[in-house]
Amino acid sequence: MDIPIRHRRLRINESVRSLIRENHLSTKDFISPIFINEGVNNKEAIPSMPGIYRLSLDLLKEEIKLIWQLGIRAVNIYVKVDQSLKDNTGKEAWNPDGLMQRAIKTVKEIAPEMVVMPDVALDPYSMFGHDGIVKNGTVLNDETVEALVKMSISHAESGADFVAPSDMMDGRVAAIRQGLDQNGFTKVGIMSYAAKYASNFYGPFRDALDSAPVDNQEIPRDKKTYQMDYHNSIEALREAEADVIEGADILMVKPGMAYLDIVRLVKDHLQVPVSVYQVSGEYAMIKAASEKGWLDHDQVMLESLTAFKRAGADLISTYFAKEAAVLLNNE
Ligand code: PBG
Repeated sequence: MDIPIRHRRLRINESVRSLIRENHLSTKDFISPIFINEGVNNKEAIPSMPGIYRLSLDLLKEEIKLIWQLGIRAVNIYVKVDQSLKDNTGKEAWNPDGLMQRAIKTVKEIAPEMVVMPDVALDPYSMFGHDGIVKNGTVLNDETVEALVKMSISHAESGADFVAPSDMMDGRVAAIRQGLDQNGFTKVGIMSYAAKYASNFYGPFRDALDSAPVDNQEIPRDKKTYQMDYHNSIEALREAEADVIEGADILMVKPGMAYLDIVRLVKDHLQVPVSVYQVSGEYAMIKAASEKGWLDHDQVMLESLTAFKRAGADLISTYFAKEAAVLLNNE
C-alpha cells in the first residue's frame, strides 16, 4: 500500500519510542505528602490509604532520610491535631511548639536542603472541620485570612521554605506575602492552591487527619462556599491570575486526574510553575483496584503521574512519590 506517513515507524521498538518521548517523569518533580502525629515510635496506618501512615516525629527522621535517598526533594506536611487542641480560632496553628512547627524543624535538622512546604489551612485545628473560622453558619473570610497570616509566619519561623495555603479564602496570598515580608521572610515562597475544587476525592485525607466537616445543622456540611465548583474552568483561571498578582510563586491545581484540563489551562496562560496534587481519593482508587487484581499497580501509577507532566505540570504532589521514585531509580 502507498502510505507515505506511517506513524508506526516511531513506535517500532522501545529504543525508538524512548528517543522521541515528549514527557518524562523525574523524582525531582515530586512532592511527597507526609502525615504527622504525636507520640514516640507511633506509626498508625490509614485504612483508606494503604501504604501511608501517620508518623511520630522520631519516625519522621527515618522517613526523611529515606525520601532524600530516593531523590525526592520536597515534602508537604500535614499534622493530626489532638481533639483537645481544636477550637474555632485555630490558635494552635501558630503555637511555636505545635506539632507542625516541630515537624518542620525535624525535617530541616535531618535534611537541610529538603524543600519543606507545610499546609496552611485551619481544618486540622478546627473543631468544626472547616478551613476557616465559622460564624452564623458561614466560614468567615477576612478573620480567617488574619489567622492564616499568623500561621504562615509561624511556619516560616520554624524553617519552612514555602507555605502552601490550601484554604481558598480570598485575598490570603497578598496578606500572607505582606506578613512574611514584614517579618523578614522575603525568601520564603508561597505555593498557593489557586484552583482547588470542592471535590469528593478528599475523603481518605479527611480520615487521615480526622478533619471532615462536622455533622451539625449550624455548620456548613461541605466546603462549597470557598472551594471551587467542579463545573467551572474559566473561574480557575481567574483564581490563578489573582494569586499571581497577589504574589504566589507556584500555583497548585487540585485534585489531579479529573482536572488535567485545568492544569493545561493554567500552564498555557500564566508564567509561573504549576503544581498538581494527586489527592487521596485518586491514590485510594488505584490502590483498591490493584489490590483486587483489576489493574497493574505500577503501570497505572506511572501512567497517571506521566499524564500530569503531559498536561503541563512542573511539580507533582503525590502519595506515590516513594514508590514511583523506586521504579524510576531502577529504570
Ligand atoms: C485541607 C486540605 C485537604 C486536602 C489537602 N489540604 C482536604 C480538604 O480540603 O478538605 C486534601 C488532600 C488529599 O485528599 O489528598 N485544607
